[in-house]
Amino acid sequence: MDLGLSNKAALVTGGSRGIGRAIALGLAAEGAKVLLAARGQDGVDEVVREIVAAGGTARGVVVDVATREGAARAVDEAALAFGGLDVLVNNAGGSLGVGPFDAADADAWARSVDLNLMSAVWASQAALPHFEKKNGGVIINVTSICGLEYCTSAPYTAAKGALASLTKEMGVDLAKRRVRVVAVAPGSTMFPGGSWDRRRKADPARIDKMIADELPWGRFGSPEEIANVVVFAASDKASWITGTSIVVDGAQGRAV
Ligand SMILES: NC(=O)c1ccc[n+]([C@@H]2O[C@H](COP(=O)([O-])OP(=O)(O)OC[C@H]3O[C@@H](n4cnc5c(N)ncnc54)[C@H](OP(=O)(O)O)[C@@H]3O)[C@@H](O)[C@H]2O)c1
Repeated sequence: MDLGLSNKAALVTGGSRGIGRAIALGLAAEGAKVLLAARGQDGVDEVVREIVAAGGTARGVVVDVATREGAARAVDEAALAFGGLDVLVNNAGGSLGVGPFDAADADAWARSVDLNLMSAVWASQAALPHFEKKNGGVIINVTSICGLEYCTSAPYTAAKGALASLTKEMGVDLAKRRVRVVAVAPGSTMFPGGSWDRRRKADPARIDKMIADELPWGRFGSPEEIANVVVFAASDKASWITGTSIVVDGAQGRAV
């Protein structure tokens, strides 16, 4: 199936590792030009090199998208690099190890909300004028099954839940601008160096028990399994999907 992504300009926030890296590679493999944004230069450079070595087009920018200035800069760099913007993937996020409600102080709330919610707000706002020039665009918000149900990480769950709600609001509000907005909600996703890999190394028995108790397919998801859905959702073939969430979790989540 030709997804029609060839030569489209895409920004992937948090594209230097894990799920974001797989999304950047997946979009580039479909012929999109990809700018990836993260705070660490080395990770950005490595993924840019990987994409270019595979024959794709990629650039990187080192920014903190949890700030309004950083998010806007990432968007503007992508538009400058590729002569416009067609696809914005708001992927940067994470639970920041914050934990339950009674463990989260004011700083934990601010950091969680800035990273998991406001980064997507600021980047999406900045993307609108660029989408206008192209008569439309696509925004993918990477949320989580945390956000759809209880998850032992109150600020993260609240911020991801807010991002899922925002996806509906934006999907309706931006329809007249021909901008689709889709949330992709991964379940627990394992990759080398990722948060689940670190937890497995620290306490293998606990992760084995989690797999047995909570993961119906007896394994974690992979970044590529999430990225495949993001790439499809970003493509013209998903033209009637907007203002909604797609769960990609191997039936891990218990919400209907
Ligand atoms: N892995 C899972 O099990 C899972 C499950 C559900 C949902 N998700 C969601 O999927 C997304 C990706 O998760 P992941 O596990 O791949 O995360 P990860 O391994 O922690 O990678 C996060 C990426 O975002 C970048 N990043 C973090 N903070 C940033 C900031 N303030 N500004 C710019 N870039 C930033 C990181 O690079 P730098 O550190 O260099 O900035 C990295 O490229 C997140 O939104 C996460 O909440 C993950």
